[in-house]
This record gives sequence, C-alpha cells and structure tokens, in this order.
Amino acid sequence: MYDQPYHLGDLSNQKILITGGAGFIGSHLTEYLLKYGAIVRVIDNFITGRRENIDLFKNNPRFEFIEGDICNKADCDRACDGMNSLLHQAALGSVPRSIKDPVATNRINVDGFLTMMIAARDAGIQRVVYASSSSVYGDHPGLPKVEDKIGKQLSPYAVSKYTNELYAHVFGLNYGMKIIGLRYFNIFGPRQDPNGQYAAVIPKWIDMLKKNERPVINGDGSNTRDFTFVENAVQANIKAMTTENKNAFGQIYNIACGYQFSLMDLFNSLKEIIGANTEPVFGPKREGDIPQSLADVNKAKKLFGYNPEFAFKDGLKITVEDF
Ligand SMILES: NC(=O)c1ccc[n+]([C@@H]2O[C@H](COP(=O)([O-])OP(=O)(O)OC[C@H]3O[C@@H](n4cnc5c(N)ncnc54)[C@H](O)[C@@H]3O)[C@@H](O)[C@H]2O)c1
Repeated sequence: MYDQPYHLGDLSNQKILITGGAGFIGSHLTEYLLKYGAIVRVIDNFITGRRENIDLFKNNPRFEFIEGDICNKADCDRACDGMNSLLHQAALGSVPRSIKDPVATNRINVDGFLTMMIAARDAGIQRVVYASSSSVYGDHPGLPKVEDKIGKQLSPYAVSKYTNELYAHVFGLNYGMKIIGLRYFNIFGPRQDPNGQYAAVIPKWIDMLKKNERPVINGDGSNTRDFTFVENAVQANIKAMTTENKNAFGQIYNIACGYQFSLMDLFNSLKEIIGANTEPVFGPKREGDIPQSLADVNKAKKLFGYNPEFAFKDGLKITVEDF
C-alpha cells in the first residue's frame, strides 16, 4: 500500500500530530506519513486502539508515541507542543455503542474534540483535518448525499460528529484556524478490528467466513453503504492537510467512492474472495441504522483534488489477503 505519494513536495520538515493513531485509520495515516519522511507524534489511550498497530513504527526515530487521553488538557497540550498539523481521528466509534452509552460517546467525541482543538489553538497549530461521519446525514432522504443537505441525526454518535462540525466552523471563524472536516462513509481495510460487540461489518464477516461461521445480516440485506477502502481515506487526509486552496478551508467533505453496495453484495463478494461455502443468518434491523448510503464526492474532488483510486472489490481483496 501507499506506493504513490498523494502530496506534492517534501514532508520531511512537517511535524504531524495524529490522535487515535493506534486505531484503524490513524495507524494508516501514521504509516503513510512516516513512509514519506514526516515526523509523526501519536496520542492514544487504547480504549479501542491496539498496541500492535503502533509496534510497526516504534523503531522509527521520526515516530513518537504519547499514551494519553484527548479529554485531558495537559495530555493534549503535551501532544500539540511543536506540531505543525493535526489529524484528529480519536473518537468512540459505533452507532449502537452510542445508543447504549450516550454519555461516554459525548465525553470523548465532543468534550475530547473540544479539548484537543483548544490545545491545538493554544499551540499555534493552524492546519487541522478531523474525522466526521456519514451518520450526520441522519434521516435526510436525498441520494446521493450532498454536503449541505442534512436531516435530523438518528443517534448520539451522529449528534457528536455533527457537533464537531459546528465547533470546527466556529474555531475557523474566531481563531483563524484552517480546518477541514471529512465525513467518512464506511471505511474498511487492513488492521480494522474484527473483535468485540461493536466491530465493523467487514472485518467481522471476514473473520467469520474464514472460520466457516455464518455472519448475521441485520435486516434483509438490502441496506446499502458506500464502502470505502482505507487508502482512499488516507489520500483524502493528506490532500486536505496539504491543500493551499483557501476555498477548501472551513468546509466539510464526503469521503467515499460514490458507489453503493448492499450488505448482500458485500456478503457475496467476501464469500467469493475467501472461497467460503456458507449462507448468512438474517437478524432484526439495528436501531439508528440508515437504510441507504451513497455519497456525492465531487466537492472533495473539486476543492482539493480527491480521487478515490481503490474500488470496493479491489479493497476487499487487499483486506482479505492481509487478514
Ligand atoms: N471506520 C469508519 O468506517 C468510520 C466511519 C465514519 C467515521 N469514522 C471516524 O474515524 C475516526 C477513526 O475511526 P477508526 O475506524 O480508525 O476507529 P478506531 O476505534 O480504530 O480508532 C479510534 C482511536 O481513537 C482512540 N481513542 C478513543 N478515545 C480516545 C481518548 N479519549 N484519548 C485518546 N485516544 C482515544 C482509540 O483508542 C483508537 O485507537 C473516528 O473519529 C471515527 O468516529 C470512522
């Protein structure tokens, strides 16, 4: 992966802070940036991240790790000190988890976001890219999803991500920071955790199909998602972090492929790639789930040159091979 650079110029004088760098997407950003010579500092408290994700980098002299909490201002200050840019990935994921425990989601995703943004402001970090989510679209019926047409959020997780977007706007206005929000649509790829009650569907199903177990499809399998390979999300972060287009700052962008696949399509593709011989079990619908998800990605293409190069099936093959 990451055989081609997505940035122009030299990153070797860039000091980049990645929050949640022991997690799935954060560890890919770390991998990319170290590969192209940047100095990378990660802050993570391992609430969902894994030590093995950063073990890959621990012998790299350009890598530094801080075990800390984004809800703690002193930890955030230490993490931001001397950095040029912030890629904020740390959050508590999962819609069902947020429905079960809205307070925990709010504490990390809203209070933690705010604490980290204040630390970035105080440290003079101008460039910030942060992870938002397609869940912000809530009950808006329009397809494909266009950034400025959102409905009412359907879960505490979606509320937390929407709140990030509102704060990001206000921080740009009042403190002159150049902030870009990325609404990720179902990102998948190597290192995504297959374990636990709140695991994402792709790693969970790969794990089960490899063990010849039968995955549960919530609903009838017709729900669609704009599944997006992680290298596309890394490309978006790098291009957003390095763009010099003034019109790109203070905005939010869909990060996806612009194609939708149903859960049945996903099941059949994985079954074929893995060579499994099993059928799914159909279970009840999940609370807070949106039936269809498809992104219009033209805004990110136009304003900072995002160009998702990895198609759904190619990404699935790489993910299965790596598993
Ligand atoms: N994966 C997706 O499909 C997807 C979709 C939409 C949005 N997102 C967002 O993208 C970001 C990254 O998601 P991911 O899939 O890599 O999840 P992940 O759980 O693998 O990574 C999140 C990381 O943040 C860390 N973290 C959480 N709370 C922390 C705290 N208080 N202090 C320090 N570190 C903390 C976790 O330990 C973990 O390493 C999150 O903000 C998530 O909400 C992801």
